[in-house]
Amino acid sequence: MAKGLDLSAAHILVTGGAGFIGSNFVHHLRREFPGARVTVLDKLTYAGNLANLDSVKDDAGYRFLKGDICDRDRVAEAMRDCDVVVNFAAETHVDRSIENAQEFLLTDTVGVFVLLEEARRVGVKRFVQVSTDEVYGEILSGEATEEAPLLARNPYAASKIGGDRLAYAYFATYGVPTIVTRCSNNFGPYQFPEKLIPLFVTNALEDKPLPVYGSGKNVRDWIHVADHCRAIVALLEADDTEGMTFNIAGGNERSVLEIAGAILAHLKKPATLLTHVTDRPGHDRRYAIDAARLARATGFQPSVPFEKGIADTIDWYVSRRDWWEPIRTGEFRHYYERTYGSR
Ligand code: NAD
Ligand code: DAU
Repeated sequence: MAKGLDLSAAHILVTGGAGFIGSNFVHHLRREFPGARVTVLDKLTYAGNLANLDSVKDDAGYRFLKGDICDRDRVAEAMRDCDVVVNFAAETHVDRSIENAQEFLLTDTVGVFVLLEEARRVGVKRFVQVSTDEVYGEILSGEATEEAPLLARNPYAASKIGGDRLAYAYFATYGVPTIVTRCSNNFGPYQFPEKLIPLFVTNALEDKPLPVYGSGKNVRDWIHVADHCRAIVALLEADDTEGMTFNIAGGNERSVLEIAGAILAHLKKPATLLTHVTDRPGHDRRYAIDAARLARATGFQPSVPFEKGIADTIDWYVSRRDWWEPIRTGEFRHYYERTYGSR
Protein backbone atom coordinates (compact mmCIF):
# COMPACT_ATOMS: atom_id res chain seq x y z
CA MET A 1 0.00 0.00 0.00
CA ALA A 2 1.29 3.49 -0.83
CA LYS A 3 1.10 7.00 0.59
CA GLY A 4 -0.95 9.61 -1.22
CA LEU A 5 0.88 11.91 -3.60
CA ASP A 6 1.99 15.49 -3.10
CA LEU A 7 1.02 17.05 -6.44
CA SER A 8 2.58 20.45 -5.76
CA ALA A 9 5.75 19.69 -7.76
CA ALA A 10 4.64 16.56 -9.62
CA HIS A 11 4.83 16.02 -13.39
CA ILE A 12 1.33 15.05 -14.52
CA LEU A 13 0.45 13.70 -17.96
CA VAL A 14 -3.15 14.52 -18.90
CA THR A 15 -4.19 12.54 -21.97
CA GLY A 16 -7.27 13.87 -23.75
CA GLY A 17 -6.56 17.23 -22.11
CA ALA A 18 -8.04 19.21 -25.02
CA GLY A 19 -11.49 17.70 -24.51
CA PHE A 20 -14.26 18.71 -22.13
CA ILE A 21 -13.27 17.13 -18.79
CA GLY A 22 -9.55 16.97 -19.57
CA SER A 23 -9.30 20.72 -20.22
CA ASN A 24 -11.28 21.49 -17.06
CA PHE A 25 -8.83 19.21 -15.20
CA VAL A 26 -5.82 21.05 -16.65
CA HIS A 27 -7.29 24.40 -15.52
CA HIS A 28 -7.95 22.91 -12.09
CA LEU A 29 -4.33 21.70 -11.79
CA ARG A 30 -2.92 25.08 -12.90
CA ARG A 31 -5.03 26.86 -10.27
CA GLU A 32 -4.50 24.45 -7.37
CA PHE A 33 -0.93 23.30 -8.07
CA PRO A 34 0.88 26.10 -9.92
CA GLY A 35 4.24 24.41 -9.22
CA ALA A 36 3.21 21.15 -10.92
CA ARG A 37 4.31 20.38 -14.47
CA VAL A 38 1.48 19.45 -16.81
CA THR A 39 1.89 17.68 -20.14
CA VAL A 40 -1.17 17.25 -22.36
CA LEU A 41 -1.20 14.52 -25.01
CA ASP A 42 -4.20 14.80 -27.32
CA LYS A 43 -4.97 13.60 -30.85
CA LEU A 44 -7.22 16.60 -31.48
CA THR A 45 -10.10 14.56 -32.87
CA TYR A 46 -13.33 16.40 -33.70
CA ALA A 47 -13.86 16.65 -29.90
CA GLY A 48 -10.43 18.04 -29.03
CA ASN A 49 -10.11 21.81 -29.17
CA LEU A 50 -7.00 23.86 -28.43
CA ALA A 51 -9.25 26.85 -27.67
CA ASN A 52 -10.15 25.00 -24.44
CA LEU A 53 -6.52 25.42 -23.32
CA ASP A 54 -5.92 28.90 -24.65
CA SER A 55 -5.49 30.54 -21.26
CA VAL A 56 -2.70 28.16 -20.16
CA LYS A 57 -0.83 27.80 -23.43
CA ASP A 58 2.02 30.15 -22.47
CA ASP A 59 2.37 29.00 -18.85
CA ALA A 60 5.81 27.82 -17.72
CA GLY A 61 5.45 24.17 -16.73
CA TYR A 62 2.76 23.46 -19.33
CA ARG A 63 3.42 21.50 -22.52
CA PHE A 64 1.06 20.35 -25.30
CA LEU A 65 1.85 17.36 -27.51
CA LYS A 66 -0.40 16.43 -30.39
CA GLY A 67 -0.55 12.65 -30.62
CA ASP A 68 -2.50 9.42 -30.41
CA ILE A 69 -2.50 7.28 -27.25
CA CYS A 70 -2.26 4.25 -29.58
CA ASP A 71 1.15 5.52 -30.84
CA ARG A 72 3.85 3.95 -28.63
CA ASP A 73 6.62 6.37 -29.57
CA ARG A 74 4.49 9.46 -28.97
CA VAL A 75 3.25 8.01 -25.67
CA ALA A 76 6.86 7.33 -24.59
CA GLU A 77 7.80 10.92 -25.38
CA ALA A 78 4.81 12.27 -23.46
CA MET A 79 5.36 10.04 -20.40
CA ARG A 80 9.09 10.72 -20.00
CA ASP A 81 9.81 11.79 -16.35
CA CYS A 82 6.11 11.63 -15.46
CA ASP A 83 4.96 10.90 -11.92
CA VAL A 84 1.25 10.67 -12.64
CA VAL A 85 -0.92 9.82 -15.65
CA VAL A 86 -4.60 10.73 -15.81
CA ASN A 87 -6.17 9.20 -18.90
CA PHE A 88 -9.17 11.14 -20.21
CA ALA A 89 -8.45 10.35 -23.89
CA ALA A 90 -11.38 8.49 -25.38
CA GLU A 91 -14.06 8.42 -28.00
CA THR A 92 -16.98 9.39 -25.80
CA HIS A 93 -20.27 9.84 -27.64
CA VAL A 94 -22.71 6.91 -27.49
CA ASP A 95 -24.55 7.90 -30.69
CA ARG A 96 -21.27 7.96 -32.66
CA SER A 97 -20.36 4.52 -31.26
CA ILE A 98 -23.68 3.20 -32.56
CA GLU A 99 -22.85 4.60 -36.01
CA ASN A 100 -19.31 3.10 -36.05
CA ALA A 101 -17.54 1.50 -33.09
CA GLN A 102 -14.07 1.00 -34.56
CA GLU A 103 -12.38 4.13 -33.17
CA PHE A 104 -13.96 3.40 -29.79
CA LEU A 105 -12.33 -0.02 -29.59
CA LEU A 106 -8.98 1.38 -30.69
CA THR A 107 -8.79 4.38 -28.37
CA ASP A 108 -10.85 3.23 -25.40
CA THR A 109 -9.31 -0.24 -25.15
CA VAL A 110 -6.09 -0.56 -27.21
CA GLY A 111 -4.99 3.01 -26.39
CA VAL A 112 -5.27 2.25 -22.67
CA PHE A 113 -3.10 -0.85 -23.18
CA VAL A 114 -0.40 1.28 -24.88
CA LEU A 115 -0.49 3.80 -22.02
CA LEU A 116 -0.33 1.06 -19.37
CA GLU A 117 2.65 -0.64 -21.04
CA GLU A 118 4.57 2.64 -20.99
CA ALA A 119 3.47 3.42 -17.42
CA ARG A 120 4.82 0.03 -16.39
CA ARG A 121 8.16 0.71 -18.11
CA VAL A 122 8.50 4.23 -16.67
CA GLY A 123 7.32 3.24 -13.18
CA VAL A 124 4.77 6.03 -12.68
CA LYS A 125 3.54 6.64 -9.13
CA ARG A 126 -0.18 6.69 -10.04
CA PHE A 127 -2.20 6.01 -13.19
CA VAL A 128 -5.85 7.07 -13.19
CA GLN A 129 -8.02 5.37 -15.79
CA VAL A 130 -11.08 7.59 -16.19
CA SER A 131 -13.84 5.06 -16.81
CA THR A 132 -17.59 5.64 -16.68
CA ASP A 133 -20.75 4.59 -14.85
CA GLU A 134 -22.01 3.29 -18.22
CA VAL A 135 -19.94 0.12 -17.70
CA TYR A 136 -22.69 -1.17 -15.35
CA GLY A 137 -25.36 -0.88 -18.03
CA GLU A 138 -28.79 0.37 -17.07
CA ILE A 139 -29.65 0.35 -13.35
CA LEU A 140 -33.42 0.12 -13.14
CA SER A 141 -33.56 0.36 -9.33
CA GLY A 142 -31.15 1.11 -6.50
CA GLU A 143 -27.53 2.15 -7.13
CA ALA A 144 -24.59 0.20 -8.53
CA THR A 145 -21.65 -0.26 -6.17
CA GLU A 146 -18.19 -0.94 -7.59
CA GLU A 147 -18.89 -4.68 -7.17
CA ALA A 148 -21.94 -4.65 -9.49
CA PRO A 149 -21.61 -6.69 -12.70
CA LEU A 150 -20.36 -4.91 -15.81
CA LEU A 151 -23.32 -5.19 -18.19
CA ALA A 152 -22.58 -2.44 -20.71
CA ARG A 153 -25.16 -2.30 -23.49
CA ASN A 154 -23.68 0.06 -26.10
CA PRO A 155 -20.38 -0.10 -28.03
CA TYR A 156 -18.92 2.96 -26.25
CA ALA A 157 -19.56 1.49 -22.80
CA ALA A 158 -18.29 -1.95 -23.85
CA SER A 159 -15.06 -0.39 -25.17
CA LYS A 160 -14.63 1.50 -21.89
CA ILE A 161 -14.86 -1.82 -19.99
CA GLY A 162 -11.78 -2.92 -21.92
CA GLY A 163 -9.72 0.03 -20.64
CA ASP A 164 -11.26 -0.19 -17.17
CA ARG A 165 -10.39 -3.86 -16.61
CA LEU A 166 -6.97 -3.59 -18.33
CA ALA A 167 -6.04 -0.89 -15.80
CA TYR A 168 -7.01 -3.24 -12.98
CA ALA A 169 -5.20 -6.17 -14.62
CA TYR A 170 -1.98 -4.13 -14.85
CA PHE A 171 -2.20 -3.52 -11.11
CA ALA A 172 -2.96 -7.15 -10.26
CA THR A 173 -0.39 -8.60 -12.68
CA TYR A 174 2.48 -6.10 -12.78
CA GLY A 175 1.85 -3.86 -9.78
CA VAL A 176 1.26 -0.72 -11.86
CA PRO A 177 -0.43 1.62 -9.31
CA THR A 178 -3.66 2.16 -11.21
CA ILE A 179 -6.90 3.71 -9.95
CA VAL A 180 -10.13 3.28 -11.93
CA THR A 181 -12.82 5.94 -11.62
CA ARG A 182 -16.41 5.53 -12.83
CA CYS A 183 -18.12 8.89 -12.91
CA SER A 184 -21.68 9.80 -13.80
CA ASN A 185 -22.77 12.39 -16.42
CA ASN A 186 -20.69 15.57 -16.32
CA PHE A 187 -21.85 19.05 -17.26
CA GLY A 188 -20.12 22.42 -17.33
CA PRO A 189 -18.08 24.68 -19.61
CA TYR A 190 -16.31 23.41 -22.77
CA GLN A 191 -18.57 20.39 -23.31
CA PHE A 192 -18.83 19.52 -27.00
CA PRO A 193 -22.32 20.43 -28.26
CA GLU A 194 -23.22 16.88 -29.32
CA LYS A 195 -23.99 15.96 -25.67
CA LEU A 196 -27.44 16.53 -24.15
CA ILE A 197 -27.00 19.74 -22.17
CA PRO A 198 -24.84 21.79 -24.56
CA LEU A 199 -26.85 20.51 -27.56
CA PHE A 200 -30.14 21.58 -26.03
CA VAL A 201 -28.77 24.93 -24.82
CA THR A 202 -27.23 25.85 -28.18
CA ASN A 203 -30.28 24.64 -30.14
CA ALA A 204 -32.56 26.67 -27.86
CA LEU A 205 -30.36 29.75 -28.30
CA GLU A 206 -30.84 29.35 -32.07
CA ASP A 207 -34.61 28.67 -31.64
CA LYS A 208 -34.15 25.17 -33.06
CA PRO A 209 -36.05 22.07 -31.82
CA LEU A 210 -34.67 20.11 -28.85
CA PRO A 211 -34.64 16.45 -30.01
CA VAL A 212 -35.79 14.31 -27.07
CA TYR A 213 -35.09 10.60 -27.66
CA GLY A 214 -38.20 8.46 -27.12
CA SER A 215 -40.23 9.32 -24.02
CA GLY A 216 -37.60 11.60 -22.45
CA LYS A 217 -37.98 9.65 -19.21
CA ASN A 218 -34.44 8.27 -19.27
CA VAL A 219 -32.58 9.25 -16.13
CA ARG A 220 -28.93 10.22 -15.61
CA ASP A 221 -27.07 11.31 -12.47
CA TRP A 222 -25.47 14.72 -13.15
CA ILE A 223 -22.23 16.04 -11.65
CA HIS A 224 -20.57 19.37 -12.31
CA VAL A 225 -17.21 18.86 -14.04
CA ALA A 226 -15.43 20.86 -11.29
CA ASP A 227 -16.53 18.24 -8.76
CA HIS A 228 -15.30 15.41 -11.00
CA CYS A 229 -11.87 17.13 -11.16
CA ARG A 230 -11.78 17.57 -7.37
CA ALA A 231 -12.65 13.90 -6.84
CA ILE A 232 -9.75 12.73 -9.04
CA VAL A 233 -7.30 14.98 -7.17
CA ALA A 234 -8.65 13.68 -3.85
CA LEU A 235 -7.97 10.11 -4.99
CA LEU A 236 -4.42 10.97 -6.05
CA GLU A 237 -3.75 12.60 -2.68
CA ALA A 238 -5.30 9.78 -0.61
CA ASP A 239 -3.32 6.86 0.85
CA ASP A 240 -3.85 3.29 -0.34
CA THR A 241 -6.07 3.93 -3.37
CA GLU A 242 -3.98 2.05 -5.92
CA GLY A 243 -5.56 -1.08 -7.36
CA MET A 244 -9.01 0.20 -6.46
CA THR A 245 -12.11 1.28 -8.37
CA PHE A 246 -14.21 4.25 -7.30
CA ASN A 247 -17.62 5.49 -8.37
CA ILE A 248 -17.94 9.29 -8.54
CA ALA A 249 -21.55 10.51 -8.32
CA GLY A 250 -23.26 13.87 -8.33
CA GLY A 251 -26.37 12.78 -6.46
CA ASN A 252 -28.59 14.60 -8.96
CA GLU A 253 -30.86 12.19 -10.80
CA ARG A 254 -32.80 14.00 -13.52
CA SER A 255 -34.76 12.82 -16.55
CA VAL A 256 -34.09 14.23 -20.00
CA LEU A 257 -37.44 16.05 -19.84
CA GLU A 258 -36.46 17.65 -16.53
CA ILE A 259 -33.14 18.82 -18.00
CA ALA A 260 -34.86 20.19 -21.11
CA GLY A 261 -37.42 21.98 -18.93
CA ALA A 262 -34.70 23.61 -16.82
CA ILE A 263 -32.90 24.85 -19.93
CA LEU A 264 -36.04 26.27 -21.55
CA ALA A 265 -37.10 27.96 -18.30
CA HIS A 266 -33.66 29.54 -17.76
CA LEU A 267 -33.51 30.83 -21.34
CA LYS A 268 -37.21 31.86 -21.30
CA LYS A 269 -37.85 29.78 -24.44
CA PRO A 270 -41.20 28.08 -25.25
CA ALA A 271 -41.93 24.41 -24.49
CA THR A 272 -42.99 24.07 -28.14
CA LEU A 273 -39.26 23.68 -28.95
CA LEU A 274 -39.38 20.17 -27.39
CA THR A 275 -39.63 17.51 -30.12
CA HIS A 276 -39.82 13.77 -29.47
CA VAL A 277 -37.72 11.85 -32.00
CA THR A 278 -36.92 8.16 -32.61
CA ASP A 279 -35.20 6.65 -29.59
CA ARG A 280 -31.49 5.77 -29.40
CA PRO A 281 -31.05 2.00 -30.02
CA GLY A 282 -30.29 0.20 -26.73
CA HIS A 283 -30.98 3.42 -24.83
CA ASP A 284 -30.16 2.79 -21.16
CA ARG A 285 -33.15 3.77 -19.04
CA ARG A 286 -31.29 4.89 -15.93
CA TYR A 287 -27.79 5.18 -14.47
CA ALA A 288 -27.29 5.43 -10.70
CA ILE A 289 -24.17 4.72 -8.66
CA ASP A 290 -23.22 4.48 -5.00
CA ALA A 291 -20.17 6.64 -4.21
CA ALA A 292 -19.78 5.67 -0.53
CA ARG A 293 -16.36 4.09 -1.14
CA LEU A 294 -14.98 7.40 -2.48
CA ALA A 295 -16.38 9.29 0.52
CA ARG A 296 -14.82 6.79 2.92
CA ALA A 297 -11.39 6.91 1.23
CA THR A 298 -11.15 10.67 0.74
CA GLY A 299 -13.99 12.47 2.53
CA PHE A 300 -15.01 13.84 -0.89
CA GLN A 301 -18.53 15.16 -1.38
CA PRO A 302 -19.68 17.07 -4.46
CA SER A 303 -19.92 20.80 -3.77
CA VAL A 304 -21.78 22.34 -6.74
CA PRO A 305 -25.58 22.31 -6.23
CA PHE A 306 -27.27 21.14 -9.42
CA GLU A 307 -29.53 24.22 -9.84
CA LYS A 308 -26.58 26.63 -9.52
CA GLY A 309 -24.34 24.45 -11.70
CA ILE A 310 -26.84 24.23 -14.55
CA ALA A 311 -27.66 27.96 -14.39
CA ASP A 312 -23.93 28.85 -14.54
CA THR A 313 -23.39 26.37 -17.36
CA ILE A 314 -26.25 27.76 -19.46
CA ASP A 315 -24.94 31.30 -18.84
CA TRP A 316 -21.46 30.15 -19.96
CA TYR A 317 -22.88 29.01 -23.33
CA VAL A 318 -24.86 32.25 -23.60
CA SER A 319 -21.66 34.27 -23.19
CA ARG A 320 -19.35 32.01 -25.21
CA ARG A 321 -20.87 31.98 -28.70
CA ASP A 322 -17.29 32.62 -29.85
CA TRP A 323 -16.50 29.10 -28.56
CA TRP A 324 -19.46 27.08 -29.86
CA GLU A 325 -20.49 28.82 -33.08
CA PRO A 326 -17.34 27.76 -34.99
CA ILE A 327 -17.93 24.16 -33.83
CA ARG A 328 -21.58 24.12 -34.88
CA THR A 329 -20.85 25.57 -38.30
CA GLY A 330 -18.02 23.10 -39.02
CA GLU A 331 -18.00 19.28 -39.44
CA PHE A 332 -20.64 19.11 -36.73
CA ARG A 333 -23.31 20.18 -39.25
CA HIS A 334 -22.77 16.91 -41.19
CA TYR A 335 -22.91 14.85 -38.00
CA TYR A 336 -26.10 16.62 -36.97
CA GLU A 337 -27.73 16.03 -40.35
CA ARG A 338 -26.77 12.31 -40.28
CA THR A 339 -27.98 11.80 -36.72
CA TYR A 340 -31.11 13.94 -36.58
CA GLY A 341 -31.98 14.72 -40.22
CA SER A 342 -34.59 12.01 -40.77
CA ARG A 343 -35.15 10.94 -37.19
P1 NAD B 1 -14.42 14.54 -24.96
O1 NAD B 1 -14.98 13.76 -26.10
O2 NAD B 1 -14.89 15.93 -24.71
O3 NAD B 1 -12.83 14.61 -25.09
C1 NAD B 1 -12.05 13.49 -25.44
C2 NAD B 1 -10.64 14.00 -25.75
O4 NAD B 1 -9.82 12.87 -26.05
C3 NAD B 1 -10.58 14.94 -26.97
O5 NAD B 1 -9.75 16.04 -26.69
C4 NAD B 1 -9.97 14.06 -28.06
O6 NAD B 1 -9.22 14.80 -29.01
C5 NAD B 1 -9.07 13.15 -27.24
N1 NAD B 1 -8.79 11.87 -27.92
C6 NAD B 1 -9.68 11.04 -28.52
N2 NAD B 1 -9.03 9.98 -29.03
C7 NAD B 1 -7.71 10.12 -28.73
C8 NAD B 1 -6.55 9.36 -28.97
N3 NAD B 1 -6.60 8.19 -29.64
N4 NAD B 1 -5.35 9.81 -28.51
C9 NAD B 1 -5.28 10.99 -27.85
N5 NAD B 1 -6.34 11.78 -27.60
C10 NAD B 1 -7.56 11.35 -28.03
O7 NAD B 1 -14.64 13.62 -23.67
P2 NAD B 1 -15.03 13.99 -22.17
O8 NAD B 1 -16.48 14.07 -22.06
O9 NAD B 1 -14.16 15.08 -21.71
O10 NAD B 1 -14.59 12.62 -21.44
C11 NAD B 1 -13.27 12.46 -20.94
C12 NAD B 1 -13.16 11.08 -20.32
O11 NAD B 1 -14.10 10.96 -19.25
C13 NAD B 1 -13.46 9.93 -21.26
O12 NAD B 1 -12.57 8.88 -20.97
C14 NAD B 1 -14.88 9.54 -20.93
O13 NAD B 1 -15.11 8.17 -21.21
C15 NAD B 1 -14.91 9.81 -19.44
N6 NAD B 1 -16.21 10.13 -18.86
C16 NAD B 1 -16.96 11.14 -19.39
C17 NAD B 1 -18.16 11.49 -18.78
C18 NAD B 1 -19.03 12.61 -19.31
O14 NAD B 1 -20.14 12.79 -18.82
N7 NAD B 1 -18.58 13.40 -20.27
C19 NAD B 1 -18.59 10.79 -17.64
C20 NAD B 1 -17.80 9.74 -17.13
C21 NAD B 1 -16.61 9.44 -17.76
O1 DAU C 1 -22.80 8.34 -17.75
C1 DAU C 1 -21.56 8.82 -18.18
C2 DAU C 1 -21.59 9.00 -19.68
O2 DAU C 1 -22.42 10.14 -19.92
C3 DAU C 1 -20.22 9.23 -20.29
O3 DAU C 1 -19.45 8.07 -20.10
C4 DAU C 1 -20.34 9.54 -21.78
O4 DAU C 1 -19.07 9.82 -22.34
C5 DAU C 1 -21.24 10.76 -21.94
O5 DAU C 1 -21.44 11.04 -23.31
C6 DAU C 1 -22.58 10.51 -21.27
O6 DAU C 1 -23.34 9.51 -21.97
P1 DAU C 1 -24.93 9.66 -22.19
O7 DAU C 1 -25.35 8.78 -23.29
O8 DAU C 1 -25.64 9.55 -20.89
O9 DAU C 1 -24.95 11.23 -22.61
P2 DAU C 1 -25.74 12.03 -23.74
O10 DAU C 1 -25.50 13.48 -23.47
O11 DAU C 1 -25.45 11.51 -25.10
O12 DAU C 1 -27.26 11.68 -23.40
C7 DAU C 1 -27.83 11.98 -22.13
C8 DAU C 1 -29.29 11.59 -22.15
O13 DAU C 1 -29.98 12.46 -23.05
C9 DAU C 1 -29.55 10.18 -22.67
O14 DAU C 1 -30.67 9.64 -21.98
C10 DAU C 1 -29.90 10.39 -24.13
C11 DAU C 1 -30.62 11.73 -24.10
N1 DAU C 1 -30.49 12.54 -25.35
C12 DAU C 1 -29.25 12.84 -25.79
C13 DAU C 1 -29.08 13.59 -26.94
C14 DAU C 1 -27.69 13.92 -27.46
C15 DAU C 1 -31.64 13.00 -26.00
O15 DAU C 1 -32.77 12.74 -25.58
N2 DAU C 1 -31.47 13.74 -27.13
C16 DAU C 1 -30.24 14.05 -27.65
O16 DAU C 1 -30.17 14.72 -28.72
